[in-house]
Amino acid sequence: MSDHKINIAIVGLGFGAEFIPIYQKHPQTRLRAFFQRTKQKLDQIGDAFGIERRCTDFEELIRDPEIDAVHINSPIHLHASQSIAALKAGKHVACTVPAATTIEECKQIVRAAEKARKNYMMMETVVYSREFLYVRELRDQGRLGRIQFMRGSHLQNMKGWPGYWEGLPPMHYATHCVSPCLAMVKGEAESVSCVGSGRIDEKLIGKYGSPFSFETAHCRIRNQDLAFEVTRYLFNATRQYVESFDVYGEKTSFEWQLAEGDEPLLHLGGEKVEKTRVPDYARLLPEAIRPFTTRGVYDAAEHRHLSFTQGSGHGGSHPHLAHEFVSSIAEGRPSFPDVYQSVNWTMVGIVAHESAMRGGEMMPIPDFRR
Ligand SMILES: NC(=O)c1ccc[n+]([C@@H]2O[C@H](COP(=O)([O-])OP(=O)(O)OC[C@H]3O[C@@H](n4cnc5c(N)ncnc54)[C@H](O)[C@@H]3O)[C@@H](O)[C@H]2O)c1
Repeated sequence: MSDHKINIAIVGLGFGAEFIPIYQKHPQTRLRAFFQRTKQKLDQIGDAFGIERRCTDFEELIRDPEIDAVHINSPIHLHASQSIAALKAGKHVACTVPAATTIEECKQIVRAAEKARKNYMMMETVVYSREFLYVRELRDQGRLGRIQFMRGSHLQNMKGWPGYWEGLPPMHYATHCVSPCLAMVKGEAESVSCVGSGRIDEKLIGKYGSPFSFETAHCRIRNQDLAFEVTRYLFNATRQYVESFDVYGEKTSFEWQLAEGDEPLLHLGGEKVEKTRVPDYARLLPEAIRPFTTRGVYDAAEHRHLSFTQGSGHGGSHPHLAHEFVSSIAEGRPSFPDVYQSVNWTMVGIVAHESAMRGGEMMPIPDFRR
């Protein structure tokens, strides 16, 4: 790379389109190509952002020697196969959540990344949200004291979303509530027990054989005396959208607000509790991409990806994620999360669903580090 810019290809232009101007503005990247299955949308977005290289064939895209890294935003069940193929083709890979839907796929992603000696980063929005960065700062300043317990929940009704969501086991999309708990204590999950609750519409059950409306899990952390709890639902329940985490420390605890628009709580000892305003962390980013912590790819609100609106812009995480991926490649270091952390966060959900199907058995989470 003579000019030190990393050539990026974005795969999937639904949610993936949110990252277009970030890579166009980032000082260390050149957005070189788009992949999209449908030609009409490919051309529409390609023209709008001036991207010449447009592919409807994924294999052709990853054979392009000019491309250094791909950022995958395709439907869930393509994440693993596309990530593995891109790693084998010698590309660095960023992939939206979850990394995979089976344990075997997780293992193959790890082995492909090890063999290729390329970075693999699951683009988990929550661990770069302003709320996570704020609580991490409290932790690093010693204000939380010893962390004793964490809780995460991701409650979202997916009625009306693309067909592959229908009947998906809730824990197969659990990284948004698992990741903040593990990342806050720099840990990896060791074992998990989960129970299912309620029942989704009969017509939704057949696709994945998962009957539960809710799944709720307890998870132990490897080599630490800590556990955390996560809860998810996708269908047949009513609640305002929330992706939340709580952290209970010996000195201070952080609790997520009950409703959107309110502010989180800091419990400060005894009965003392105060609402806290979470700052933005754009200052941690190169100047050119700082504006993207507070707005999406299209300025017009009606063009924003629904998940961006529902999730409060994913806490301003998108430019932080792109910056971490790019910097890790430029600096020749593992990304955060790296491939092992990415699959660990993903496997908590996969194993949790298995546990729920077995009535709540505590089950080990494989460790693919050699
Ligand atoms: N907070 C987050 O991290 C977050 C938020 C939203 C979405 N996501 C993830 O992003 C992914 C994409 O979400 P979306 O809503 O844009 O999804 P989507 O179903 O709209 O599809 C995304 C893209 O994939 C392409 N595609 C569809 N079927 C394909 C196929 N068979 N082969 C190749 N490409 C295909 C589509 O053309 C589209 O551009 C999902 O997997 C979701 O998990 C993550």
